[in-house]
Amino acid sequence: MEKIFDEAKKLIGEAATSETIEELRIRYLGKKGEVTALLKSMGTIAETERKAFGMQVNKLKQDVEALIEAKKGELAGAGQSIRLAAEKIDVTEPGRVPVPGTKHMITITIDEICAIFQNIGYSITEGPEVETVFNNFDGLNSAPNHPSRDMTDTFYITENTLLRTHTSPVQLRTLLSEKPPIKVLSPGRCFRVDTPDATHSPMFHQVEGLLVDEGVTMADLKGTLDLFAKRMFGDKVKTKFRPHFFPFTEPSAEMDVSCFLCDGTNPSCRVCRGSGWIEVLGCGMVHPNVLKVGGLDTDVYTGLAFGMGVERIAMLKHGIDDIRLFYENDVRFIGQFY
Ligand code: DAH
Repeated sequence: MEKIFDEAKKLIGEAATSETIEELRIRYLGKKGEVTALLKSMGTIAETERKAFGMQVNKLKQDVEALIEAKKGELAGAGQSIRLAAEKIDVTEPGRVPVPGTKHMITITIDEICAIFQNIGYSITEGPEVETVFNNFDGLNSAPNHPSRDMTDTFYITENTLLRTHTSPVQLRTLLSEKPPIKVLSPGRCFRVDTPDATHSPMFHQVEGLLVDEGVTMADLKGTLDLFAKRMFGDKVKTKFRPHFFPFTEPSAEMDVSCFLCDGTNPSCRVCRGSGWIEVLGCGMVHPNVLKVGGLDTDVYTGLAFGMGVERIAMLKHGIDDIRLFYENDVRFIGQFY
């Protein structure tokens, strides 16, 4: 018994992991363990010595148990200090500064345009990017042979559906779903077959405006858009309306804004290139054929409409010279505007 105890003491003392301790527990105290074997041999001991033998074996068992428990405690303590060392946190280290996100320039510009028109009573509505050929072209009085219908200019999905090439189809959707007075503004994505370069992108954004009521005139159109130009580009800007053609308006015009940067005084101005004027949007009085699609009596109702490119306005306003910067999402560019 002494020999067993000395050996157990030595081995337990040397044990460095809890796995080794478990192996030793099994070796001495397990079902087939050395100490257990001694206990089982009690019956073979002469009756006179049995009691003393029993006491000794029990003491051996308790002593080995005590050694094992002590070692277990020791190892657990060591394990904890290793864990604590690994989990140590240097509370004096400076924290990581979170980089706040910013709104995208396109969102900022759309919000700005919407706010100006919401202030004068327009409500915001949106239409789908996948449109019917009817809503995008025919219903808007566009001639069956108009070049913009070509596959080389328009992304067709099926014969009758396409990716809208402008936000003007929202005019039709609104005319079909609402009754005058109608006063809506509709921002959104548009698509045209274009090879990307500094001023072209196959995906871009427009904002469409439509006002339909009794007695709406060209004066309302000019007054509304002149107010928009002043709020968008500054109180000093002047506007001029150049005759133009759009299938869905008659008469149609393009609106130019006097150069908000140089007012025509700098021949090499980056915004107006010396002309003093910048083209900002297309507009006109809603064509009677379009009002008729909406089921309106064209003797009673007239309307004004306009459409503008969001990227173009943002580029003019902020001196951005390449449209592709908007879509590359380089945070060094995006983070400049807020
Ligand atoms: N849809 C035209 C375009 O994509 C822009 C436009 C012009 C919209 C005149 C209108 C409008 O509502 O009246 O170029």
